[in-house]
Amino acid sequence: MKNSGIKNIAIIGASGAIGRAFVEHYAASEEIGCIYACSRSPHEYNDSRIISIDLDLEQPDSIETAAAQIKARSLDIIIAATGILHADGDNPLQPEKSLRDINAEQLQRVLAVNTIGPALLLRHFLPLLKKDSSAVFGLLSARVGSISDNRLGGWYSYRASKAALNMLIKTAAIETRRTNKQAVIIGLHPGTVDSQLSKPFQARVPENKLFSAAQSAAYMAGVLDSVEAGDSGKCFAWDGKEVPA
Ligand SMILES: NC(=O)c1ccc[n+]([C@@H]2O[C@H](COP(=O)([O-])OP(=O)(O)OC[C@H]3O[C@@H](n4cnc5c(N)ncnc54)[C@H](OP(=O)(O)O)[C@@H]3O)[C@@H](O)[C@H]2O)c1
Repeated sequence: MKNSGIKNIAIIGASGAIGRAFVEHYAASEEIGCIYACSRSPHEYNDSRIISIDLDLEQPDSIETAAAQIKARSLDIIIAATGILHADGDNPLQPEKSLRDINAEQLQRVLAVNTIGPALLLRHFLPLLKKDSSAVFGLLSARVGSISDNRLGGWYSYRASKAALNMLIKTAAIETRRTNKQAVIIGLHPGTVDSQLSKPFQARVPENKLFSAAQSAAYMAGVLDSVEAGDSGKCFAWDGKEVPA
């Protein structure tokens, strides 16, 4: 996606570590027309190019309403940076270590955020991508969603939710090719990034392998910039290498 000129962008999950870093990364560029920062926790920005939009992945109507608010302007880049791995509070959730830890409610919750929400994003946001020049939709997946790369096991619901997301991306890419030949839809693995999502699992990550969100967003922006129509449907890591299905 090597178009020059002013770009319009939507970032879903703008309140998260990686989503926020993407907003900041693109806001630092003068080539940006508008950034739609979508989140279930909206935020006031001190930059008139950034427009905050309400979007809760577990409220399908809010996804449709958010897309309708953007409809007037076609987009060059869409990034979905939402996701769940664990939760604290009244309704805690931990990735499963064993089959014994599997329960229906947890599976449903993780799939709702990591798979069903993004499926609805594909439905309502893909039509917003530009058709007259190349445009890209990147959805944050994870290397642990790779079936062939699964050597450690565990994390049943998270792995399954990301593997299913990768299939949705591939299937949407096949369909979209028929109507928007320039659109590229890809999954992204950000590396291990310092965030609320990864915090409890950082102990064994070597220091030089733990990226800041800003670092990872900059790497992934480079990937979004370099992919071409033939890459649509694939998943790429932060370094531009394809993650096997
Ligand atoms: N960090 C890593 O090492 C790592 C590694 C591999 C893949 N990833 C993937 O990267 C993505 C971003 O992760 P992160 O590290 O930036 O995590 P994060 O800081 O926890 O951000 C997660 C984002 O998801 C949003 N979200 C959760 N449930 C939502 C819902 N129902 N509706 C709307 N938004 C919702 C959160 O919104 P609120 O702020 O409102 O809660 C937040 O914006 C995820 O898909 C994750 O699986 C991360």
